[in-house]
Amino acid sequence: MLHLKNQFIFAPIKLGYSNNKGEVTDKHLIFYRARAEHLGAVIPEPLYLDKGLRELPTQMGIDNDDKIEGLKKLNHEIKQFGTKTIAHLNHPGRMANPKIPGNYHVSASDQICENGGAKPRSMDRADMDYAISLFINAAKRAKEANFDMIELQFGHGYLAAQFLSPAVNQRSDEYGGSLDNRMKFPLEIFDAVVKATDLPIIVRISGDEMFPEGFHLEDMFTFSQELEKQGAAAIHLTAGTACSTPPWFFQHMFIKKGKTWEMAGQLQNKINIPVIFVGRINSPKDIEQINGNYNRPYIALGRALVADPEFAGKYLGKKEGRIRPCLACAEGCLGGVKSGKGLGCVVNPQVGIEHDMPNKADKTKHIAVVGGGLAGMQAALTLKERGHNVDLYEKEKLGGQFNLAWLPPKKDSLKEIVDYYKLELKSQNIKTIHKKVTPEDITGNGYQEVVLATGAEPAVPPIKGLKTYYWSEFLHDENLPEDKSVLVIGGGLIGAEISSKLVDKNNKVTIVEMLDEVARGMEMIERKFTLAKLKKHDVEMFVNHKVTEIINDHQVLIEDKAGNTKTLNKIDKIVIATGMKSVNELQYDLQGKIPVHIVGDAIKPAKAREAILTAFNAAKSI
Ligand SMILES: Cc1cc2nc3c(=O)[nH]c(=O)nc-3n(C[C@H](O)[C@H](O)[C@H](O)COP(=O)(O)O)c2cc1C
Ligand code: SF4
Repeated sequence: MLHLKNQFIFAPIKLGYSNNKGEVTDKHLIFYRARAEHLGAVIPEPLYLDKGLRELPTQMGIDNDDKIEGLKKLNHEIKQFGTKTIAHLNHPGRMANPKIPGNYHVSASDQICENGGAKPRSMDRADMDYAISLFINAAKRAKEANFDMIELQFGHGYLAAQFLSPAVNQRSDEYGGSLDNRMKFPLEIFDAVVKATDLPIIVRISGDEMFPEGFHLEDMFTFSQELEKQGAAAIHLTAGTACSTPPWFFQHMFIKKGKTWEMAGQLQNKINIPVIFVGRINSPKDIEQINGNYNRPYIALGRALVADPEFAGKYLGKKEGRIRPCLACAEGCLGGVKSGKGLGCVVNPQVGIEHDMPNKADKTKHIAVVGGGLAGMQAALTLKERGHNVDLYEKEKLGGQFNLAWLPPKKDSLKEIVDYYKLELKSQNIKTIHKKVTPEDITGNGYQEVVLATGAEPAVPPIKGLKTYYWSEFLHDENLPEDKSVLVIGGGLIGAEISSKLVDKNNKVTIVEMLDEVARGMEMIERKFTLAKLKKHDVEMFVNHKVTEIINDHQVLIEDKAGNTKTLNKIDKIVIATGMKSVNELQYDLQGKIPVHIVGDAIKPAKAREAILTAFNAAKSI
């Protein structure tokens, strides 16, 4: 057994918070301290075993004895709450980041990941022994650094899984072919780590690689039973691979919630050691469902704790307040890590700066917030939290433009943040006034400062002959045309989303985009999915083209960069998705009369994360 103070474990999530020496930094300490108190255990981010095997230049390492002091500090920070710590050890094999100079790539075979990467060397015995020695040394350091347990990464398409997977392992020696053979090397690693340390060992596996040629749950029953025989303390069941099925690895909103729970539940019936459940467990309802259906297992929480560090404390009734929901969008967390900026979050502007909470205002002021989109609602809540009296004005529906965000296919989880804000506004007794604001509403009602969160509106280009057109109307199911020929002018995020919706109703879609690619700026997993869908439905895409004239209701002239023209015929409907422009005229009417703060899209059209962040930062300083 794991002997944790409760069932919740922080899942391993790469943060990108280290310096390029792999050391523990203050940012790590702040991040984990903010989350550790009400958890049974924390698995800090995967620790690299060798400098040449990093997934990120800013990953934490356990490759050398000089890392032990820093890791001790990290353990101290987490364990002060009686929370256990688990060192997650991973050899990425062929998935070591090819962009990091000095990285090397080894694997079961010399097959390159089909989504890109370096060509790995098929491991010989010496390579395998060296990899085992890396695990042994890391396990010994983990013990010295005061970790309570070890987790071996044998899933997610990393080295051990590359041996387990028939899709990757092409060997003809005793480590390839049958499942027994493919399990051999991972079991050798496990056995070596058991011998090297007395710490309990958890094994993380993918229950299914989620593509036909990969391994599946039946294989993992056998593997887990073998691990149990050899002394594993628990199996942590996730899904997918970093190479072939990232949406499953990251449990993106585009995949169905609950598949990993089902697999973990089935594994519970096959072994006698605990199974750790993970995957989009981000609401009290999910926890109740898992506890009700599956004999109260351990639960690993990842992004739920990024979005709300107090998720477990609030669920357990040890902390007050509403849970800020994770949307499973992967935009701020995975997006932040991939961009090199480090983990962030769309809905939580305080990730990584949890020590810098908004303080009470020196002087209470009467403040108007104009615009009830994400930025306006966040500004109102932070101002209220700081002690100000706030009125929130919204001319239509709270949520603003973001009410369109969850309408494209498979994005309904995005709605949860608007629901959260609405409930919070109510709980905090923030008065919401539904009206279009005039300058007199602000100057005549005794406000001392005003926050303009007036958002943005579609920018309509001056195209000759353009008269009748649609914008976001087709995102609403009731407006969606069927079997029509639709021209979408602008293939950015909104144009691509509208197109994705249109093809579901058998519309013939043509996209004309001025830049050299479609869906620029879309979160990377979503982009891949969306582009594949548009391709499957034969959406015609003209990149590096602009529309120069709407000749008549059914004919449109387009032109490429060299001036070559083409006429598109038989067009039934035109969608304009050429971007947004800020709405902020009130600032000119109010200038010199009252201090004005502009936040969100009213500064510059951007994404939800920037809207919330700019509003939060402005409200922190008023
Ligand atoms: C930004 C990010 C980085 C992650 N990095 C890793 C990793 O390096 N190794 C790993 O096994 N899982 C990694 N995961 C997966 C998580 O451990 C977890 O399985 C996944 O996020 C699903 O759980 P959740 O829905 O509670 O977040 C990562 C997830 C995210 C969002
Ligand atoms: S960025 Fe999105 S998926 Fe990631 S933690 Fe925040 S809300 Fe969840």
